[in-house]
Amino acid sequence: MPSSAFATALPARVESCVPLAPEVVELRLSVPQLPRYQAGQFVSLRLPSGVERSYSMASAWSEGEALVFHIRLRPQGQFSGWLQQLLTSGEAPHQLTLSGPYGNCTWQESSSASASTPIVMLAVGTGIAPLAALLQEQLAQGGLAPLTLYWGGARSADLYLRRHFEQLEAARPGFRFVPVVDGEAGWSGRRGRVQQCAAEDFPDLSRGRVYACGSPAMVADAQRLLQACCALPAARFHADSFNAAPAMPSTTFALSTTSATAEPRGAAGRVEIGVRHPDGHCSRVSGAAGTSLLELLRQQQLLSGICGGQGACGSCRVEIVAAPAALAPAARAESRLLAVLPQPAPLHRLACQIPLTAELSGLEIAIPER
Ligand SMILES: Cc1cc2nc3c(=O)[nH]c(=O)nc-3n(C[C@H](O)[C@H](O)[C@H](O)COP(=O)(O)OP(=O)(O)OC[C@H]3O[C@@H](n4cnc5c(N)ncnc54)[C@H](O)[C@@H]3O)c2cc1C
Ligand code: FES
Repeated sequence: MPSSAFATALPARVESCVPLAPEVVELRLSVPQLPRYQAGQFVSLRLPSGVERSYSMASAWSEGEALVFHIRLRPQGQFSGWLQQLLTSGEAPHQLTLSGPYGNCTWQESSSASASTPIVMLAVGTGIAPLAALLQEQLAQGGLAPLTLYWGGARSADLYLRRHFEQLEAARPGFRFVPVVDGEAGWSGRRGRVQQCAAEDFPDLSRGRVYACGSPAMVADAQRLLQACCALPAARFHADSFNAAPAMPSTTFALSTTSATAEPRGAAGRVEIGVRHPDGHCSRVSGAAGTSLLELLRQQQLLSGICGGQGACGSCRVEIVAAPAALAPAARAESRLLAVLPQPAPLHRLACQIPLTAELSGLEIAIPER
């Protein structure tokens, strides 16, 4: 399903910012000319200070409605600090810039669920936001396929929408909600990791479909576990991994719906790349083999890569001007994303999907104007 249809910078204004749970706030933004997005997608929010972070919409698109986000406040976090200021004094600047929507953890039309083709959703913490939007969208469209939602937190107080999902479970026979708490004495429900609970309950996912959102560790482990132990096909695992901006993975080569990291190939040696900049001037940059082209360009502050190398946003697109024979062609999923970006061209590639090997020395790329 096409996802990153545009990446225009739009003004957004804070409507409200209120606490939802310990360390979690709900931020509502009004965005005039808000373009239609699909539930499960995310946007990039830029503060006046230039700090830019990705956040998933927690509600389905509705004309004229505010955008809703659930955001965990991270200690010493830059965006978190701005939210904290907004929360306590209301004095942070109320104007932001938004770009997007991005991401492909969206509802798959072919998801026809039954007892033998189960749909499983996994979230930890604020990873529930995109899944809540997906569920809302499905309800608005008249149905909720037989579906099991596992939502994990360290304490029961972290499951801030628990009551809402319990009511939904009572009202909709096809929907099952499994809260999972791992660190609270006296909790009588499921314990452990959401992915382990799902693997116990669904030993055969060979015809199933899984949506997983939240911490990169959970997403990567869920993909590994459910594929290895429950025969989940790779193409039926859809994920949004909440990568931290300063520590984005540098070796995420295989374009998939997850951010599971791959082993770097050709890790030895250095690579030198020619770069044509948007203003037309050219330079040469070099870096250690074993990372990705995005990582090299990021180190040089030439590109940032909004989704952290998940192959979900297209913001790391470059044009190949001259390629050594060692440059492997784009995989199918990369080609699919490139095809839905504005002004696609055959020589475009996603820098996050190009592993840097010593054999790529001599590669020449152009960075498009943003
Ligand atoms: C596609 C995508 C969607 C996202 N959607 C959401 C969302 O809906 N809700 C939400 O709360 N967050 C979401 N995030 C994470 C979000 O973009 C920020 O990384 C997070 O809010 C921290 O930003 P900050 O500026 O406050 O902290 P930073 O200044 O970036 O970091 C401060 C400290 O916290 C650590 N840190 C930051 N983020 C994390 C993390 N995720 N896990 C562990 N340590 C971390 C950093 O390593 C650093 O030490 C998403 C990320 C991506 C890539
Ligand atoms: S597609 Fe998002 S960083 Fe490459």
